[in-house]
Amino acid sequence: MNVNVRPARPGDGDGMARAWLSAAEYHTGLDPEHFRVPAEAQPGEFEEWLGRSRDGALLLAAELDGRVVGWLSARIEPPHPAAASQLVRELGWTRLAIDALVVDRADWRHGAGTALLTAAEAWGREQGAEVVRLDTYSGNPVSVPFYEDRMGYQRRAIVFQKRLT
Ligand SMILES: CC(C)(COP(=O)(O)OP(=O)(O)OC[C@H]1O[C@@H](n2cnc3c(N)ncnc32)[C@H](O)[C@@H]1OP(=O)(O)O)[C@@H](O)C(=O)NCCC(=O)NCCS
Repeated sequence: MNVNVRPARPGDGDGMARAWLSAAEYHTGLDPEHFRVPAEAQPGEFEEWLGRSRDGALLLAAELDGRVVGWLSARIEPPHPAAASQLVRELGWTRLAIDALVVDRADWRHGAGTALLTAAEAWGREQGAEVVRLDTYSGNPVSVPFYEDRMGYQRRAIVFQKRLT
């Protein structure tokens, strides 16, 4: 299959909504207490987003044989203004933040996820980013090996949670 990554554009809403709902269904199947399938994630919502200015943020679409099967959104985080007084070094760096990466389940393992993330990393480097950060659900048996084994990411933090009600 031929993989092509390019900036997302009006008309991609259908494929983007499909990939988003597929990811929602997958996560809800893994852990229905913490994930749900959003009722509002329709193609029109994505078209509206695609029509808005993104102020330098990155929004990429991946095509497999000409069909939009996945997308990625990312942005640059500049060094934190109070970095000099912080103990975490990376607050002083320019960072690439990946906010979302989804590929329609029917099209997994054809290289779309790799192509999207590789293109985003290249964009981040061009913008001066020294590091790329993202998070994923720790119980996801697909994304964890994707990031760690295939894309070379390292675990950097643990997010704890406890129900109060
Ligand atoms: C994680 C994700 C983006 C990967 O997209 P993809 O197009 O399948 O990725 P690629 O084809 O480039 O890479 C395939 C790798 O992904 C992982 N993977 C994909 N499908 C998998 C499956 N069914 N079982 C196990 N691992 C899988 C593996 O690491 C695989 O590498 P391998 O074939 O060498 O074992 C995709 O599975 C996805 O959208 N998942 C649901 C949403 C999600 O978890 N997003 C990321 C975190 S929020």
